[in-house]
Amino acid sequence: TLQPIILSGGSGSRLWPQSRSLYPKQFLALVDDHTMLQNTVTRLNGLSYISVPVVIANEEHRFLVAEQLRQIDTRAEAIILEPVGRNTAPAVALAALKAVSNEDAVLLVLAADHAIASKDAFHAAIEAALPAAECGKLVTFGIVPSSPETGYGYIKADKSDDNVSIMNVMQFVEKPDLETAKQYLASGNYFWNSGMFMFKASRYLEELGRYRPDILAACQSAMEVQHTDLDFVRLNEEAFKSCPDDSIDYAVMEKTADAVVIPLDAGWSDVGSWSSLADISNKDNLGNSTLGDTLLHDTRNTYVRSEKKLIATVGVDDLIITETDDSILVAHKDKVQDVKKIVEALKASG
Ligand code: GDD
Ligand code: MG
Repeated sequence: TLQPIILSGGSGSRLWPQSRSLYPKQFLALVDDHTMLQNTVTRLNGLSYISVPVVIANEEHRFLVAEQLRQIDTRAEAIILEPVGRNTAPAVALAALKAVSNEDAVLLVLAADHAIASKDAFHAAIEAALPAAECGKLVTFGIVPSSPETGYGYIKADKSDDNVSIMNVMQFVEKPDLETAKQYLASGNYFWNSGMFMFKASRYLEELGRYRPDILAACQSAMEVQHTDLDFVRLNEEAFKSCPDDSIDYAVMEKTADAVVIPLDAGWSDVGSWSSLADISNKDNLGNSTLGDTLLHDTRNTYVRSEKKLIATVGVDDLIITETDDSILVAHKDKVQDVKKIVEALKASG
């Protein structure tokens, strides 16, 4: 079987004020009427051999996860609760340890907060990946890059054989600096890492044990004394707190010799910022996207999202304007990465 593993522990701070630590991005309906987590689950409908998902989230979001799955009539295989976030290498290890304990399933690791326009293209890539994963490969899904983004991992593919849809990974570089990213873009040999992976549970644990035995050991002891109530799996808190913090990209994907890449052309977006959400939203002929109660005059290329109040704009271009009960954000589209600075400043001021 193919076991979906949904990573749902991020904080999405660049989408403040809608996204906040008690209610981060993956639990919001940003793109349509369903939340990002719900879309991640329902996007799998129609695949063969697929089982119900394992969700890994922070303890404090357990009711959000359970309620949102219930709303789409999905019962999780398990909801693994982390007492603290230790990034994605440990999160995937917990799921892999759970999976090898009954049957060595192939894991399909998914982020809970991505948007994918074409479900068919996504399914085709998953089906193409399965045989390689069953043979022990660690499969990545590569996106053709359109800008020198520094928030992504880059995958250098072996393109020597034009006829194959699955290529060996020659190099994996997590979050290069801008100069390096520009070179990668110009060379034409690199994909963006989509942050989705497919591998056998045992293979991930083998590679993690080879490169980060400390993380593997901490996760093993965290899973030894687990408590289950309803679908929730609780870890040994002390053991998990002692686990080093690292992402799957740095801990395993940059180091393994067994990675392959499958191109994914499915309208993928990681919805990392307000401008990337604006990019995938429907626009009028002036380039504006609006949601809720809005009135725009002489306004271009602007994203306006109202929840309660009327938002009116006059004579402005290239803005993000969004509002919640207690906060209003007005940002230039070119500066949306810095929204996280507001979140940091708010945290610092308590
Ligand atoms: N359970 C759990 N615990 N989930 C986590 C944790 C954690 O501690 N930290 C992050 N996640 C979840 C996030 O919610 C998200 O769904 C996914 O794991 C990826 O984490 P991000 O923090 O969003 O990673 P990133 O965006 O910086 O980088 C990754 O994704 C890029 C594509 O969006 C990398 O894989 C990059 O190489 C990739 O290009
Ligand atoms: Mg991300």
